[in-house]
Amino acid sequence: MIEDKINTTVNIGNIKLKNPIMPASGAFGEGMDRLIDFNQLGALIPKSITKYPQRGNVNPRACETQAGMINSIGIQSKGIEYYIQNTIPYYSQYNVPLISSISADSIEEFIEMSELISTFTEVEALELNISCPNLKNNGEAFGMNKKVTYELVNKIRQITNKPLLVKLTPNVTNIQSIAKTAESAGADALVVANTPLAMAIDIHSRKPKVGNIMGGLSGPAIKPIIIRQIYQVYEVSSLPIIGSGGVINAEDAIEMIIAGASAVQVGTANFVSPTTMVNIIQNIKHYMEHHQIKHLKELIGSVEISKQWQKDYI
Ligand SMILES: Cc1cc2nc3c(=O)[nH]c(=O)nc-3n(C[C@H](O)[C@H](O)[C@H](O)COP(=O)(O)O)c2cc1C
Repeated sequence: MIEDKINTTVNIGNIKLKNPIMPASGAFGEGMDRLIDFNQLGALIPKSITKYPQRGNVNPRACETQAGMINSIGIQSKGIEYYIQNTIPYYSQYNVPLISSISADSIEEFIEMSELISTFTEVEALELNISCPNLKNNGEAFGMNKKVTYELVNKIRQITNKPLLVKLTPNVTNIQSIAKTAESAGADALVVANTPLAMAIDIHSRKPKVGNIMGGLSGPAIKPIIIRQIYQVYEVSSLPIIGSGGVINAEDAIEMIIAGASAVQVGTANFVSPTTMVNIIQNIKHYMEHHQIKHLKELIGSVEISKQWQKDYI
């Protein structure tokens, strides 16, 4: 058995994952349990919750692009009460850490929701979706602003002992500085990253292809951007990084790990093939066996940069 020879466990905050593969919030759902065994995954992250039920953005909410898709779902949500009564009990039947992703309109709402969700022992960690718009700051994403990022993460740090995964937005000039800010405010891990803001136009109608005009680009098209950002964040932060963006197979996931990720989320690829995550887990093991890597930790951040390249980069 390959499993006996190699170790794919990773630590995120104080939780131990049996392998580094987990779904990306919003691109995974309950019906998928008919197609894959959730118990094989490293963690479970349902769609971001909001305080109140909300319908999400206007249609059309998604369009295909070269090597990816643009979505402007907004956060379609049944609200936190529904989440507590249905979503938490549903996911806690699996023997896999449940991570709750939280989206809110203001810092106060983030705190209120985090406090409530933290009372549930079934939830092992919180993922703060700081890429969502801060309605008290002209709708600018929380994670675009250092001061707001610090205040948000720091205040939530004070009201919960659960590990805090902070999901950064890639739509910033300097992701290193936001990463360091989240770390100094008390984050336990950084998710790199949410979707780059994008736009596509139908040339016949001359209308934007998604109803919200712009949306988030996901899928293979964004992988090189995310690899670059993981590499940059790994350079300046000692926190575990969870890569998110463009992974469709084990090679992509391994590339992220070599760039600096300890774990990897899979989103858009689940729509193409729901068995993607379980195939990735199996093929990471084959890769490790082939390269005689006993522990996944040996791979994290193992990219080899020659001294000369490093000089040019700086
Ligand atoms: C349809 C759709 C819905 C999404 N909803 C959320 C969400 O609710 N919260 C969140 O943090 N990210 C959300 N995302 C972003 C994903 O979690 C992920 O970070 C992103 O899609 C990049 O990964 P991928 O290229 O593997 O899809 C969504 C992405 C898609 C495609």
